[in-house]
This record gives sequence, structure tokens and C-alpha cells, in this order.
Amino acid sequence: MTTTAQSGSITSYFLEGESPKVLVVDDEAAIRVALVRLLKAEGVTCREAGSGVEALDILEREAVPLVISDLRMPQMDGFTLLKEITRRWKRTGVVVVTASTEVDSAVVCLNEGALDYVVKPFQLEEVLARIRQALEKRSMKVALEQHREELERRVVDLALGNFQSWADMLEERDLYLRGHSLRVSQYAAAIGRELRMGEDTIATITLGSRLHDIGKIGVKEECLHKPGRLTEEEYQDIMQHPVIGARLMGPYLGRWPTALAIIRSHHERLDGKGLPEGLRGDAIPQAVRVVTVADSLDAMTSPRPYRPPLPVERALQELTSCKGKQFDPDAVEAFFRAFPRAGVLPVATPVFEPVPLPAHERE
Ligand SMILES: [Fe+2]
Ligand SMILES: [Fe+2]
Repeated sequence: MTTTAQSGSITSYFLEGESPKVLVVDDEAAIRVALVRLLKAEGVTCREAGSGVEALDILEREAVPLVISDLRMPQMDGFTLLKEITRRWKRTGVVVVTASTEVDSAVVCLNEGALDYVVKPFQLEEVLARIRQALEKRSMKVALEQHREELERRVVDLALGNFQSWADMLEERDLYLRGHSLRVSQYAAAIGRELRMGEDTIATITLGSRLHDIGKIGVKEECLHKPGRLTEEEYQDIMQHPVIGARLMGPYLGRWPTALAIIRSHHERLDGKGLPEGLRGDAIPQAVRVVTVADSLDAMTSPRPYRPPLPVERALQELTSCKGKQFDPDAVEAFFRAFPRAGVLPVATPVFEPVPLPAHERE
């Protein structure tokens, strides 16, 4: 939009890069013709619909910035159409046209999100002024919405940086977990590279690995540190951590569903005997299967309250013997390609630094 005065060509009131298009919805052809002629003279492209149903059909096929709609129509009235539009096409503005006896319903429409209303019979000049005003209001709404989304994005980015630190601190205070997630993310990224996964996927795997055990914050301390064998109940308690982690991180990872899947499903097994859902085979995303191998290798080669670390050779044998049952064979083989010499294992714990957030998987 280039002007704030209520004048000038209507086309200049549309958003930058947007084609100036208006959908005119009215069951009376004469009114449609009058409005379309008026708008076309202003350089606006028009679409016409004789009912709400026809209008929705057009909106499903093409982007329309503004709809001018009658209220009383057969099949689907203007009010229902307005509600559908505000629900499904947030950027499409609606101006309702109403008979002078129906001003009350026009006010209800304003509450439902209509930008403005025009009362029939109308003066063409008045209609133009209303449309300009409506488009101006719409561009302010869009700008505000973009600003809100940007802020929300920054808050989430900041929070995810903090959660990575928290996950690291949680492990740092525990002799048996110290540096675990940092090493897991390093192993997992190396496997991902061997599997020729894209950089964004590897970055998402790294983020998910950093946060995969964050749910341990909700597990009883005495279970995590019990020196002897765990009872079934204690084991179930510990194994709640993927569910807790996914619940805690869910609100922040909406744009990275794979990272969330890593947190929730890293204890699933290929043969369906894992937790929490008993997912089997391909039902476990490949990125998760990669992290499971990395996680298990690091768990085996780390000390536990009830045992010293397993020798690396034993841990590697375990990966091989559980290939195809617990572990994805491709991920295991990729691990062996990435670390062909057992002598470099376990890797030194990298220095903590929050990973930059990967590209969004979902908007
Ligand atoms: Fe875990
Ligand atoms: Fe873990």
C-alpha cells in the first residue's frame, strides 16, 4: 500500500506483490454487474459468484485478497461465507453488502471479522471509499499479524536455545549422564552424513539429539541413580522420560516435527518392542532410528550407577548383534563407516554451544 489518504486508485491499496483481485458475491446479477463494472474501471480484476458455495469454490482455486458479499443468498448466506473465509483464508478481507433493514446483521458481521459493510441501495462513490478503507484496514491487520508471528518466532528460537542449555546442565550435574546428549548429537550427525541426509535434516537431528533426554527432569532422582537392578515399576518410571520430554517440548517444536519425534521415540525398537508406543520399522522416522543407534552406543560406553562402562568392542558387538531387531541396519552400518576405528571411541565430549536452529520443516 502506498497511501494513507482515502483516495487514489484502489489497486494501490492491495499488498505489495499481490494481484488486485476482488470476488463479488451476490445472487442478484444486476448488483454484481454494477460492482464489477465499478471495480474494473479502477483496474481491479474481478471474479463473480451467485452464492456462498460458488464463492468458496473460487477461493479454493485462487487467492483473492478481498471479497464483497451480499448477506442474503440462497444455498449459503453471506454470514456463513464470512465465517468460512475468516477461518480458512486469514489474509482475505470481507466487506458485506446489506439491506438497510439488516444493519444489525452487518454489525454482527463486523464482530465476526468483516472489514466493513455497505448498505443497499448504495452510491458507487461510497462503495469505492469503503473498499479503500477496508483494504487499508486489511493491510494493517496483515502487518500486525506478521509482526506477531515474527515475535513468536523469536521467542521460540530463544527458548530452544535455553532448553539446550538446560538439557546440558541437567546432565552436567549427574556423573552418569555428563555430556551424553552432546556426544549423541555428534554420533547422530556423523551417521546422518554417512546416510547422505540433507544439511537441514542433520541440523534437525542435532537439535533433537541435544534435547532427547530432557524429559529426565521429570524422573525420580532415586530411579536415575539406583545402584542396583531396577524394579519393573522403576523402569517404567524412567521410561516415561520420552513422553515427558515430548510434552514439555511440544509447544516449541511445532515447526520441527522430526526433532519432536526424536524426543518421543528414541527408545522405540525396529521390531516393535520399544517404548512408549511400540512403533515398528518404517513407522519410526529414519532420523529417529539414527539417534537410537547413537544414543545406545553412548549409553553402553558410559558408566551407569549399576555397572562400569562397557568396553567399546563389546558395545560395537552389541550394535551388530541387535541390527535388524533393535536397530536400523542402515544406521548401524553408517555408524561403522563413520567410525571405522574403535580406537577413537567413545568420542571426547564436545564443548557445549547451542546449535543454530535448522530451517523450519513446517510453517
Ligand atoms: Fe532416553
Ligand atoms: Fe539418551
